[in-house]
Amino acid sequence: MAADHSHRQKNKDGQSSPKQKGDDILWPRKVALSLLQSFWEEEKFLDSLFESHGDFLKLSSRDRNFVRMMVTTAVRRSGQIEDIMRRGFSDPKQKISPSIVRYLMHLGIAQIVFMNVPDHAAVNTTVELAVRSGAKRAKGFINAVLRRAVENGKKWTTEQDIPRLNTPSWLLSMWGKDYGKAYAVEIAQASLAEAALDFTVLDPLDKEDWAEKLGCTILPNGTLRRVENALIPDLQGYNEGAWWVQDASASFPVKLMGDVLNKSVADLCAAPGGKTMQLAAQGAKVYAVDRSATRMKRLDDNIARTGLQDNVITAVSDGALWKAPEQMDMVLLDAPCTATGTIRRNPDAAWLKKADDVQAMVKIQRDLMDHAANMLKSGGVLLYCTCSLQKAEGEGQVNDFLSRHDGFEVQAIQPNEVPELSQAITDEGYLRLLPFYWAAYGGLDGFFVARLMKK
Ligand SMILES: C[S@@+](CC[C@H](N)C(=O)[O-])C[C@H]1O[C@@H](n2cnc3c(N)ncnc32)[C@H](O)[C@@H]1O
Repeated sequence: MAADHSHRQKNKDGQSSPKQKGDDILWPRKVALSLLQSFWEEEKFLDSLFESHGDFLKLSSRDRNFVRMMVTTAVRRSGQIEDIMRRGFSDPKQKISPSIVRYLMHLGIAQIVFMNVPDHAAVNTTVELAVRSGAKRAKGFINAVLRRAVENGKKWTTEQDIPRLNTPSWLLSMWGKDYGKAYAVEIAQASLAEAALDFTVLDPLDKEDWAEKLGCTILPNGTLRRVENALIPDLQGYNEGAWWVQDASASFPVKLMGDVLNKSVADLCAAPGGKTMQLAAQGAKVYAVDRSATRMKRLDDNIARTGLQDNVITAVSDGALWKAPEQMDMVLLDAPCTATGTIRRNPDAAWLKKADDVQAMVKIQRDLMDHAANMLKSGGVLLYCTCSLQKAEGEGQVNDFLSRHDGFEVQAIQPNEVPELSQAITDEGYLRLLPFYWAAYGGLDGFFVARLMKK
């Protein structure tokens, strides 16, 4: 795994030191180690680390892909990896110190058991990295554990309770309460899969053309799916704004709003703008609101890239306080949530969230919904959705809203609106997408959608 970086490595004092022999294969792994350490110790989301880590950004695109894969795998499979590591201890009570030794072994085992890296390269580079990262004394220990992983790691995985090991227990137990134990395990298992790259095409008439150019299949709802990973800005059509990245699940809410041509639509949690673009592309007059100025900047870039800015009026504001300039035909509330439906893409989400976050989100969602209700014309549609799998943020939230707002009723989602997903329609007429649906196509993100009408 060669790197083409030409920069000099910085020492502890931030000064450049001459490159040493072997740096080309060690350097990306050192960057991965630093990222993994920041993830666990500073509890920062991987995406924000990947976007801001100077040394990561300086890597070649090939090395960036490798590092991203290594770190993401080490997090996605962290429970299994920890178990394999411990099975490799000669003394079960062995203490791991300093903490960097654990991260080194996690990265080493990720490469040996879950990636296509030759065993000797994974072991030797990890041991060498230990020496260069101030963990020289643990060199022999790391070497022994990794050699046991080479010998037995893959076999041990067949004895592991994989979904349980890789899912925080609070989350598995919440899913158990919501869906029953068997379904909870199935959700956890499906959440371990790596998600494909999904695209929404600006002009649906160009779908076939773009499917061919991007190496995609077309899913039953019109989403383009590419199994092979890629750096998005390098793909054909990105700069000209012919498509944007959007999981198949996330494309349903706007589709379920029906005809939006010339309708006023408040998109209350809009950034980075996937759904705003869908609405604008169909001729809606969109008020795109988001509390985060940074994320809103990404929305601005996205609507400029796709040439949809004339249909969008933007505002950086708390959606629960934003003053609508007119009564709206429709409101889309893609509410902030614990995002546990997107663990396939963001395995870190599972580990950085806590049970308490669910209640905090429920409160924010409730305030946003109440405010959304007031800005709608009668006969208007409130489309509520989240990418959380917890029912408290979906079915529970909407049922609670309806118990407080008798001026609203459910507009039940119909099977013909969600191709090959009729099993996802609940008795109340909501859409509850689970990550193991559409398994034959490679699954989709977990999502919840409710369509309500103001009487
Ligand atoms: C699920 S994401 C939205 C994704 C977006 N709709 C799309 O399709 O690209 C939720 C968004 O809600 C925003 N947010 C969180 N709390 C908010 C609030 N009180 N008011 C407005 N936006 C908020 C976050 O900044 C985040 O961008």
